[in-house]
Amino acid sequence: MTAKILNGKTIAAQLRQTIKQQVQANIEQDIRPPGLAVILVGDDPASQIYVRNKRKACADIGILSKTFDLPTTTSQAELLKLLDKLNTDKEIDGILVQLPLPDHIDSNLVIERIVPDKDVDGFHPYNVGRLVLRMPLLRSCTPKGIMTMLEQTGIDLVGLDAVIIGQSNIVGRPMALELLAARCTITVCHSKTRNLKIKVQNADIVVVAIGQAEFVTGDWIKEGAIVIDVGMNRLESGKLVGDVEFATVSQRASWITPVPGGVGPMTIASLLENTWLAFQKHI
Ligand code: GUN
Repeated sequence: MTAKILNGKTIAAQLRQTIKQQVQANIEQDIRPPGLAVILVGDDPASQIYVRNKRKACADIGILSKTFDLPTTTSQAELLKLLDKLNTDKEIDGILVQLPLPDHIDSNLVIERIVPDKDVDGFHPYNVGRLVLRMPLLRSCTPKGIMTMLEQTGIDLVGLDAVIIGQSNIVGRPMALELLAARCTITVCHSKTRNLKIKVQNADIVVVAIGQAEFVTGDWIKEGAIVIDVGMNRLESGKLVGDVEFATVSQRASWITPVPGGVGPMTIASLLENTWLAFQKHI
């Protein structure tokens, strides 16, 4: 079998176009644009690229993005103070603090300080809790983007066995909750999981989010499985690859996300959708 490509770039472009039209229609009626505050603390090169892409995506569709590039030495108290200010800023609908934060800042404390209705990353315990209870509002961007991609293919997810490799707060855990809400049977695997390969070999859906280049190879994949690759790793040669070995896995899967051009663009499109949703609750 040769897998069909789940083209995140194309689906994300359609979503961005829809939001852009809605933003423009509002502006023609003198309604203010949605506003997103994007905060970066420190100079992690990967975070700088992610943040630049998020800001550019906002500008392209008419979302006002306010930029806060803070030095690594920023104290936790200073960051919390900025969040308090943005929490009550009437022009700001969404607040995004790029992770990871420097070690001297407690990420959990920072995430909890954002008012839940501006938590466009969907990381606040309130929004995660709503997803647990199957009453989602603002959903984490990467898992939400993956669900949108899966929906667009028309694949019936009900009853499928899903294996998620990676248990992070940003991807693995909310991904499990999304797929559970879609009535899949979920297995979440991590570095202490035993017989990982056998678990993956039984899966109808495999989501890999571990940050290890080409970790999952074709012999791990059940014929016809759907494979979602969240990884983004740069090889010494400079080539960008996922957590999945594309050449071998695409010989067995029915659907696969490419890297780049799969999950990445969908994460940003989901952030724009969340900002639009938060905005609608504020006007
Ligand atoms: N770091 C890696 N992914 C993300 C994300 O989706 N949001 C934020 N805020 N930080 C991240």
